[in-house]
Amino acid sequence: MMLQTELQNEAPSKLSIQGVSKSFASRERDKPVHALDTVSLDVVEGEFVCLLGPSGCGKSTLLNIIAGLEAADSGQVLCDGAAVIEPGRERMMMFQESALFPWLDVLDNVLFSLRLKPGLKRKERREVAESYLKLVGLEKFHHAFVHELSGGMKQRVALARALAPNPRVLLMDEPFAALDALTREQLYGDLQRIWQERKKTIVFVTHNVREAVCLGDRVMLFSPHPGRIQEQFKIELPRPRDLNSVDLARQAMTIMAALKRYPRGETVPPMEVAR
Ligand SMILES: Nc1ncnc2c1ncn2[C@@H]1O[C@H](COP(=O)(O)OP(=O)(O)OP(=O)(O)O)[C@@H](O)[C@H]1O
Ligand SMILES: [Mg+2]
Repeated sequence: MMLQTELQNEAPSKLSIQGVSKSFASRERDKPVHALDTVSLDVVEGEFVCLLGPSGCGKSTLLNIIAGLEAADSGQVLCDGAAVIEPGRERMMMFQESALFPWLDVLDNVLFSLRLKPGLKRKERREVAESYLKLVGLEKFHHAFVHELSGGMKQRVALARALAPNPRVLLMDEPFAALDALTREQLYGDLQRIWQERKKTIVFVTHNVREAVCLGDRVMLFSPHPGRIQEQFKIELPRPRDLNSVDLARQAMTIMAALKRYPRGETVPPMEVAR
């Protein structure tokens, strides 16, 4: 019974990012680095939002603040109306590097994240972990060690590990950036399928325009120094989306042109983002 409940979809969360600013002291410069400047963004339940922008525009900083790994200097993040002050199992993070434990096999890596779910019995934990490994296509690799896996397989394990505690929000920081084009394309398909099946709210960081258009319901365009949202693009292409379709390429060109309008260091007033 417990297991059935565990494997059901939890209702996805809504996120409200309200006027978040963050600066870092810089060793190289006398002035602090203004990583984020009054960034506001509402993400509805089950939405897939991509944060897009050049290096240094504050994407990871914002994701870390949503995860509760970093504190904002001012402003706040609300998850289902409650202020985020620390990491929680309802908001799981996935990074560019899989950050798996090399001394554990695939199954134990996924089981590790289930320690966040104290209500489950040992056998149930195992069944939950196995079901997520199946979801990401790794049912035959339970006992492989991390060094035996390809880059794409490692990211699949990392995805299963992030999904296993059944979070309401998935935060992804360039999770496919280090992969070859073919593996990445497969993962775009898998992630879209999993997102539709498992009904998560996803905030996905990337600097790859086509990736953002392939995955996002909305693409938020950031500019750096200070990090601000400049424009948003609603992507209404049917799913599953094909990275190589003409329509997708056309949308990506529009966004790429916008990206070029915000050169480094230019200061423009922040955009008020409303849905
Ligand atoms: N812990 C830190 N200490 C000092 N400066 C930092 C720290 N974290 C981020 N920064 C600075 O804040 C700015 C935003 O960094 P952030 O990592 O959020 O950018 P990003 O958009 O994720 O870039 P990338 O695409 O390269 O990952 C950068 O100028 C960076 O140098
Ligand atoms: Mg980053």
